[in-house]
Amino acid sequence: MAKTKTTFFCQNCGAQFSKWQGQCTSCRQWNTIVEEVIQKPQKSDWKSDVSNTKVSKPLKIDEIDGRLEARFPTSDNEYNRVLGGGIVPGSVILIGGEPGIGKSTLMLQLALKFPIKTLYVSGEESQKQIKMRAERISNKNNNCFILTETNTQNIFRQIEELEPDILIVDSIQTLHSDYIDSSAGSISQIKECASDLIRYAKETSTPVILIGHITKDGNIAGPKILEHMVDTVLQFEGDRNHVFRILRAQKNRFGSTSELGIYEMQGSGLREVSDPSDILLSRKEEDLSGSAVAATLEGMRPLMIEIQALVSTAVYGTPQRSATGFNAKRLNMLLAVLEKRAGFRLGTKDVFLNVTGGITVDDPAIDLAVIAAILSSNEDQPLPRDVCFAAEVGLSGEIRPVQRVEQRILEAEKLGFSKIFISKYSKFHSPKEGIQIIKLGRIEDLVNHLI
Ligand code: TYD
Ligand code: MG
Repeated sequence: MAKTKTTFFCQNCGAQFSKWQGQCTSCRQWNTIVEEVIQKPQKSDWKSDVSNTKVSKPLKIDEIDGRLEARFPTSDNEYNRVLGGGIVPGSVILIGGEPGIGKSTLMLQLALKFPIKTLYVSGEESQKQIKMRAERISNKNNNCFILTETNTQNIFRQIEELEPDILIVDSIQTLHSDYIDSSAGSISQIKECASDLIRYAKETSTPVILIGHITKDGNIAGPKILEHMVDTVLQFEGDRNHVFRILRAQKNRFGSTSELGIYEMQGSGLREVSDPSDILLSRKEEDLSGSAVAATLEGMRPLMIEIQALVSTAVYGTPQRSATGFNAKRLNMLLAVLEKRAGFRLGTKDVFLNVTGGITVDDPAIDLAVIAAILSSNEDQPLPRDVCFAAEVGLSGEIRPVQRVEQRILEAEKLGFSKIFISKYSKFHSPKEGIQIIKLGRIEDLVNHLI
């Protein structure tokens, strides 16, 4: 056997050191450096003999056969949308998310819907537990094989026998390789197991989906290099107390990262939400103050979102400002603009803001709806139910145009809104007849319209 070799790894960022030290010099975290034994194997896991290793030659870009890269769509439209049309053969997808958010459910659901031979390797649950989950989801696929195993050598043995068309691993942190003498989930194990799986994917053109745990601060556990190694990194997120789950691409070598998939967690698994606006808007019976609808865009998809604000007199000296689903700094900025440019004394008021549905919005077009909701709550005057807003607000109180305003107008019209407030500087063609477009230049114009 080769001489035992050890190295020191930072468990936070994956940096490698030759000796122990108290602080990691690369990520500045204390007490994260751990010694791990690495016995570099003479032979690797996947296809050990040398004769199988292809020697690649340089080719002109025209000579490369592009047809091999045709993607195959899954039966899950939201998943396809996020990936940019489907799974690319030989690609490696890493999906991360909080515990209990539904990663295993999503992947099992996908595995059960594939018409092709699927191998689902689980290191977290027993075959019985997976069967129970499958019964809940109640999808049938006679070509889906379940393997409970954590040793990569054994997994590859089964793969060679079964030759699956797609491999799903739940989760990369539970795998361990015989060649490395450190515990599962450690940096060197994750690195080794992932690189073997990636090599397997590339050599056989089999797509591999890896489920990954995340750390306290929301990054995928293990070395950052893991995210560099794979082709696509997906994030499955949402508020566990709400039913909506959002799948977004953080990195995608084969598509855009601006697309978004929306699911609803039900008793029988995850349901694709193809018309999210319809669900996110509460169809309330009576008019309530402090609520406004924003026409936002998530990826390429328009999304109507309800914003709720509550403005009340501060009980304590320092007023509270709190925002859910919206950047709190941006809220403070908008309040300052309202105070300075429109003369509203909000300095002694508590302001609470909530984006309904438990989702987080980054689109700046939500600004105008936030201001409208705050004004409405402050004056205790409900806004008409059929108006919506789509514009950014600048520091000097100007209403700024936002991208793809036509698409937002179309969505608003489709959902039965009769008025939309936008910036007067917005440029768009084909004015719609079904919806009245109100153009504003400054924040005072909005105040005049609403109050
Ligand atoms: P799970 O996929 O185990 O999460 P993860 O793998 O990300 O840790 O999902 C667990 C949660 O999903 C659990 O709290 C219960 C809920 N759930 C449903 O509401 N309906 C279902 O049909 C299933 C399978 C799970
Ligand atoms: Mg799980």
